[in-house]
Amino acid sequence: PDMPVDEQTEYLSYDANWEFPSNQLKFDIVLGQGAFGKVMRAEATGIDGTAGTSQVAVKMIKALLSELKVLIHIGQHLNILNLLGACTKDMHKGLLYVIVEYCRYGNLRNHLLRRRGNFVNTMDDDLKENSIVKHLLCYAFQIARGMEYLDSRKYIHRDLATRNILLGEDHVVKICDFGLAKDCYKYDNVYTKKSDTPVPVKWLAIESLTHKVYTTKSDVWAFGIVLWELFSLGGSPYPAMNIDETFITRIKNGYRMERPPQASESQYDIMRRCWAHSPDDRPTFTDLVEIIGNSLQTSV
Ligand code: ADE
Repeated sequence: PDMPVDEQTEYLSYDANWEFPSNQLKFDIVLGQGAFGKVMRAEATGIDGTAGTSQVAVKMIKALLSELKVLIHIGQHLNILNLLGACTKDMHKGLLYVIVEYCRYGNLRNHLLRRRGNFVNTMDDDLKENSIVKHLLCYAFQIARGMEYLDSRKYIHRDLATRNILLGEDHVVKICDFGLAKDCYKYDNVYTKKSDTPVPVKWLAIESLTHKVYTTKSDVWAFGIVLWELFSLGGSPYPAMNIDETFITRIKNGYRMERPPQASESQYDIMRRCWAHSPDDRPTFTDLVEIIGNSLQTSV
């Protein structure tokens, strides 16, 4: 009908005349990378009616395929968004489907924000307040369990945040967003500023900000930010701060977020330990499973 062309690509067909043999491409350098793939320079032999070789730029999608491979490699765990199947047969037509579990309550951040009203209205009621805190701790515990599993599979998430955690039935939470644009922030020295990959600065550990180093301990830092998000009921980290050079300087100088009002001193202490300057001083996910597990038992 009257829709712009780019909104009706599902109805447009592919024309096999454009098909080009990939063995007639010789790749050399990466021209750019983004969240959904990269652009490489290549020598193409016999393209566009020319007999010899010509220089071309090749755009490629890799995010979904790498996510699929990562999910297969990692294996199943209750607290990660598990793979159910994939449709790869028509990949040559540009079709690739990755089928994962459905989580009816969507991402945890939006869920917390939707629930904010209830949370605040029930704050006077000690019993209900206790049950809210119990749910937050129960989410935190499950996230720590999922991360402990990912660490055991040698997987570094690099973008742990409540927006990347889904909530399913029976308060089960699942970590998602695997394989998306991981090497972009790691190797992308030139394109960092212009890149269309939004780098999750406010979730990044000091060493990731200063040296682009990502380890399970930088995931632990992000876990501390996730705890802050949980206890601020979906709040945005460092609310009053802009992301600029002074942000990194302030973090390096020891600036940390304050205790969210809903968090106890001991819950805030867990966050602070996750934000230790030295990665070695931060707890492991196994430590966190134990610490949070114990506090869940005593808060029942
Ligand atoms: N949004 C993105 N992924 C989802 C999933 N697996 N379930 C529900 N909502 C989603």
